[in-house]
Amino acid sequence: MKHFVSMKNLSEHELLQLIKLADDINQNGIEPLQKQVFAANLFFEPSTRTKMSFIVAQRKLGIEVLDFMTDASSVQKGESMYDTAKTLESLGASLLVVRHPEDNTVQQLAEQINIPVINAGDGKGEHPTQCLLDLLTIYQEYRKFTGLKVAIVGDIKHSRVARSNAYALATLGAEVYLSSKPDWQDDSLPFPYLDIDEAVESCDVVMLLRIQHERHEDQSTMTKEEYLENYGLTIERENRMKSHAIIMHPAPVNRGVEIDDVLVECKRSRIFKQMSNGVAARMAVMTKLLEKGGIKHENSFNQRE
Ligand code: CP
Repeated sequence: MKHFVSMKNLSEHELLQLIKLADDINQNGIEPLQKQVFAANLFFEPSTRTKMSFIVAQRKLGIEVLDFMTDASSVQKGESMYDTAKTLESLGASLLVVRHPEDNTVQQLAEQINIPVINAGDGKGEHPTQCLLDLLTIYQEYRKFTGLKVAIVGDIKHSRVARSNAYALATLGAEVYLSSKPDWQDDSLPFPYLDIDEAVESCDVVMLLRIQHERHEDQSTMTKEEYLENYGLTIERENRMKSHAIIMHPAPVNRGVEIDDVLVECKRSRIFKQMSNGVAARMAVMTKLLEKGGIKHENSFNQRE
């Protein structure tokens, strides 16, 4: 694994290694690097959780974060993403974290850059570190994936989270189901669709998605209340979930749209737990990539195993 740009081509073994490393870091921490290492976070699209948790993860690992801000950089003078990335590589960065509004842009950049590139979300493409923190959250709950029924519910067509999670969960042996408003279905994903009532009643994990308004060409005429009633997680539907089933959402949450406001922090919600897990998940990814490049921790998970 030279870069971390997609979950699609990772094997079950590679996924489980990353999940277990993140779980171990979560429980036991990890010694910071003894060597000076720089990383740059290039966000060409807004972010709160991903950007901030990468910074927390980098500081916990002892990585020095280059203070790159797109709005205050030469990107504003027309410098391309490739030239920006090559510049940071030339200055000594050992790692780039990149978010971009266009699908596949980060994968293409990774093919041209010698240092590891992490996809922090690319358009409707993939969001692999969000997926890893989601997998960690499910693993903490069930300690397995085989046979688990996971429903990914909402704006499937415009969601990079849906894509990464569907591929990875299927590789890990989970039964993946999708549930969506008909015009937000994505037929390129080879997973069966359930209606929302069937999804909430039959699945162990109900993973809701944010409505990606910024990627919609046509604005829906449906009100927020109508969307919640027809396609979202209402209190009445939550009452019909299996007793052990959990609720997930990558956030930001449109409260009262994808999910009733009072359910966001209910007993079965793992939404804020997912955010906390983002730090260990991102520490695990960066640790693996840096190890591959010969930059190791004193007490790495592999040595402890
Ligand atoms: N879940 C997620 O990617 O959130 P941000 O857009 O705030 O990073």
